[in-house]
Amino acid sequence: MLIDARAAVALLRSGEIVAIPTETVYGLACVLTESAARKVYAAKGRPGDNPFIVHIASPGDLGTVAAALPDAAAELARRFWPGPLTLVLPKRGDVPPAVTAGLPTVAVRCPAHPVARRIIEGAGPLAAPSANISGRPSPTRAEHVTAELDVPCVDGGSCEVGLESTVVSLCAAPRLLRPGAVTLEQLRSVLGEVLPAEKTDTPASPGQKYRHYAPVTRLIMTDGSCPPDALLLVPEEENGRFAGRRVLAYTAATLYGVLRELDAMGEEYAYVYCPKPEGLGLALCDRLRRAAGV
Ligand code: TXA
Ligand code: MG
Repeated sequence: MLIDARAAVALLRSGEIVAIPTETVYGLACVLTESAARKVYAAKGRPGDNPFIVHIASPGDLGTVAAALPDAAAELARRFWPGPLTLVLPKRGDVPPAVTAGLPTVAVRCPAHPVARRIIEGAGPLAAPSANISGRPSPTRAEHVTAELDVPCVDGGSCEVGLESTVVSLCAAPRLLRPGAVTLEQLRSVLGEVLPAEKTDTPASPGQKYRHYAPVTRLIMTDGSCPPDALLLVPEEENGRFAGRRVLAYTAATLYGVLRELDAMGEEYAYVYCPKPEGLGLALCDRLRRAAGV
C-alpha cells in the first residue's frame, strides 16, 4: 500500500514499520525500540544476528546514537553527509540491542533523500535495512517493495544511487566493510589508510557473510567469453564492445532493476561481465560477485 510522508511519520511513531525511499535503496524503517525492530526482522525474514543501520536527519544528530565521535567521523560526516556513507562507531547504551543485533557498535547514516529526511525529522532516528526479503536484490523503486513485502510504502521515485551505502568502521583503524558510492579512493583522501574488509568466519559486518542480492536466474562471471546465444550483463559504458550479442547493460542506478528483470524474463542463467574494481566499479563488482554466489 502506498502512503504519504505524513502518514508514514504517524505510523512510525506508533511503532509500525514503513518502507521509505533513500538515495541509495528503499529502507524498511522503524523507530529505535525492541518491539518495532522485531517487526522488521520478521517482515524481511532477516537473521537475528544482522544489525540495522540507524538513519539520522542531520549530521549533528550523530551523538544521539554514537557514544564516541573520533575526529575521523566528524571529518567524513562533513565531507560526505548527507549521502551514501555509513559509519560504524561505539554505540550509546540507549540504542536497543535488537537494532544492533547485540553488538557494542552502531552503524549510522544521514541520508540525502529529501523525503527520507522529512520522515526522520518527524519520527526521530530510524533503523532501516533495505526493504527486500532477506537475500533478494535491494529495491530501488516503490513497486519493487510492494511486489515483495506487505508493508506501507512511501513512493519517492527511483533511487538515484541504486546501490547500498558504503560502510566504514571507525572503531579501530578505519576499515571498509562494504564498498559503495562513496569510493575507497574518496575515503583514503580523508583518512589515509583504509583497510579492506576481513575475510573471516566472523566478519566485522555480519551482513557480509550472507548470500545477497541474488536473482533466481543463475549468474556466471565471465571475462567476456560465453556461448554466442547466451544473455550477457555488461556495464553500460562497455556496451559497444558486445554489438550483435544478447546484452543487458547496467549502471549502478539500474543494476538491481536489471537483476529483477532477469527473473521476469525467466532466463535460466546469464553471464556477467564486471567493470574494473576501482571507483564505483568496486561496489558493482562486490554486488555482482555476491549475486553470483562467488
Ligand atoms: O544504503 C543503505 O545502507 C541502505 C539504506 C536503506 O540506508 N540500507 C542497507 O541496510 O543497505 P542493510 O541492512 O541491507 O545493510 C546494512 C549493512 C549490513 O551488512 C550489516 O551487517 C551492516 O550494515 N551493519 C549494520 N550495523 C553494523 C555494525 N554495528 N557493525 C558492522 N556492520 C554493521
Ligand atoms: Mg540489505
